[in-house]
Amino acid sequence: MVDKALGTGGRKSDKDLKIRVKSAKGRKVSSTKWLERQLNDPYVARARAEGYRSRAAFKIKEMDEKHKLFRKGMRVVDLGAAPGGWSQVAAKATGSTDANPLIVGIDYLEMDPIPGVILLKKDFTEDDAPAMLIEAMGGKKADIVMSDMAWPTTGHRGTDHIRIIHLIEIAADFALDVLAPGGVFIAKVFQGGTEHELLHMLKRHFKTTMHAKPPASRSDSAEAYLIAKGFKGRDEDGDDAEV
Ligand SMILES: C[S@@+](CC[C@H](N)C(=O)[O-])C[C@H]1O[C@@H](n2cnc3c(N)ncnc32)[C@H](O)[C@@H]1O
Repeated sequence: MVDKALGTGGRKSDKDLKIRVKSAKGRKVSSTKWLERQLNDPYVARARAEGYRSRAAFKIKEMDEKHKLFRKGMRVVDLGAAPGGWSQVAAKATGSTDANPLIVGIDYLEMDPIPGVILLKKDFTEDDAPAMLIEAMGGKKADIVMSDMAWPTTGHRGTDHIRIIHLIEIAADFALDVLAPGGVFIAKVFQGGTEHELLHMLKRHFKTTMHAKPPASRSDSAEAYLIAKGFKGRDEDGDDAEV
């Protein structure tokens, strides 16, 4: 099924070797292409070599290197945590341990335990999810709320857009409730997709807001991240209906 084929130029260096996957009976063309991309993706290989559960781990690592997000002792909430790459990076960067866990992750998918991380198997959009997260944090404020959540796409652009915006809005609303002053909110958005009102609301509550496209985020994907730094506290006079 898997062929090592020469890349362009015909030189037999390792660099030129590209794994090609032959289509198999019963496998969709899109699955074959996905498999081929995974097998040729240097981040997938690095994740395996460095013990990360996902290539996504490098997205938060790269954003941390560039935007200086994590510090030792910080408390972090990871929304849409499975399979756990971001939580692994956060646990390492904050020095979180099982004896003194600083990271709480939530996902509706089952996850294997991660040292230093409290994991909740729960849909974040359910009404009682925020209270469960706050309880898991021992009632303490968070320094970072990060969300890599995305619904599986339906293929209908309008529907997908509304669903992702809804997820970001409730993540942002949660962040305003739980962040300590100076805190950071990071959320997966889609390029051209951050709603004007949401951005406006975040600009009111944070000192700086910016979009980031870390190198590990595939260039052919519309995915990007919104980073809001320097939480100023919830603006009680503001119009929270915008959130
Ligand atoms: C791109 S993956 C996250 C990868 C993760 N950052 C990592 O490094 O391993 C997105 C995750 O969001 C989760 N998710 C999407 N909607 C959710 C929701 N409403 N509640 C909880 N998790 C959700 C999905 O189950 C999926 O595991």
